[in-house]
Amino acid sequence: MSILFSPITLRSVAMRNRIFVSPMCQYSCQDGLVGIWHLVHLGSRAVGGAGLVMVEATAVSPEGRISPQDTGIWGDAHVDAFLPVTRFLAEQGAVAGIQLAHAGRKASCAVPWQGGKPIPAGSGGWQTLAPSAVPFDVGDPVPKALTADDLDALEVQFRTAARRALAAGFKVVEIHMAHGYLLHEFLSPLANRREDEYGGNLENRLRFPLRIARAVRAEWPDDLPLFVRISATDWVGNGWDIEQSIVLVKELKKLGVDFIDCSSGFVVPNEPVPFGPGFQVPFSARIRAETGIATGSVGCITDPAQAEQIVATGQADAVLLARQFLRDPYWPLHAAKALGVDIPWPNQYLRAK
Ligand SMILES: Cc1cc2nc3c(=O)[nH]c(=O)nc-3n(C[C@H](O)[C@H](O)[C@H](O)COP(=O)(O)O)c2cc1C
Repeated sequence: MSILFSPITLRSVAMRNRIFVSPMCQYSCQDGLVGIWHLVHLGSRAVGGAGLVMVEATAVSPEGRISPQDTGIWGDAHVDAFLPVTRFLAEQGAVAGIQLAHAGRKASCAVPWQGGKPIPAGSGGWQTLAPSAVPFDVGDPVPKALTADDLDALEVQFRTAARRALAAGFKVVEIHMAHGYLLHEFLSPLANRREDEYGGNLENRLRFPLRIARAVRAEWPDDLPLFVRISATDWVGNGWDIEQSIVLVKELKKLGVDFIDCSSGFVVPNEPVPFGPGFQVPFSARIRAETGIATGSVGCITDPAQAEQIVATGQADAVLLARQFLRDPYWPLHAAKALGVDIPWPNQYLRAK
């Protein structure tokens, strides 16, 4: 009896198993529009048996993109571009999710295979935005500190993005509050130096991310689940940590968030992250135990028995795999075989089962 391959239902949405494709930037768009690459990339993982396929960090505004090649959802053309993708994912039995994001001070960068460095405004880049005018790294362009009007505009952008995600056929929205992007920059004292009601003590640092969660929840239908990805710790002293994460998650739960996707790190350069098999599992386990919310574990999960053990021991309700899904789009089909579970294969591939 496999827990990994048992269905999980959040609000009205049933996932066929607890193996989710973790959001992964493909840096393969023009003007934020997904195309054939995304249809094939995401579609392959749905054919491969994933329970949920989460589209990469998708910008709520053009300046919210990490790179000029990121996906976006700030216009109606983006909705039309996503429709064939979400239709195909559903036809293959996978739930379509989308991560809504703003890259904050880590926006306007070259794609990784072109070095990933900041692109200055005027050379194809743009002025970045952040809670405070503090760059990510020494020598990086200085972001513009957000004004009260900018915060109002961002709330509208996230809310409108959620409306468009629904029109585009998504059944799950995930708000990106991790990895040193805009909302994590509000949470972490390492990036947030504001002296107004959005900075300083924990209650103030939570205020803007919670405002966004409230706005998205108000827009997103009651019968559809809302996920939030957090960085559960910054891995450095005087930063964000698991204790503060638990306070945040309790508030998110009150607002109607259904699932916490537990990652960590990336708000400042050169953090001492202890990468290793399942190194972030303690975060999903502790958040689940102390808040009662459903959690997902991500990070160096590659092995079927390891994934089964994480969910079977109640350390998470689901696992999210990123790089392992790049190595093997059909990982769930192979994992089922390894665990001795009989799951259906696509009819077209039955002769290979
Ligand atoms: C190519 C690539 C792109 C990624 N893009 C995103 C992203 O868009 N949003 C996000 O939250 N994490 C992103 N991540 C992080 C992954 O979702 C995941 O948290 C991380 O890779 C650890 O999981 P893994 O060990 O299974 O790869 C990305 C990772 C990779 C390898």
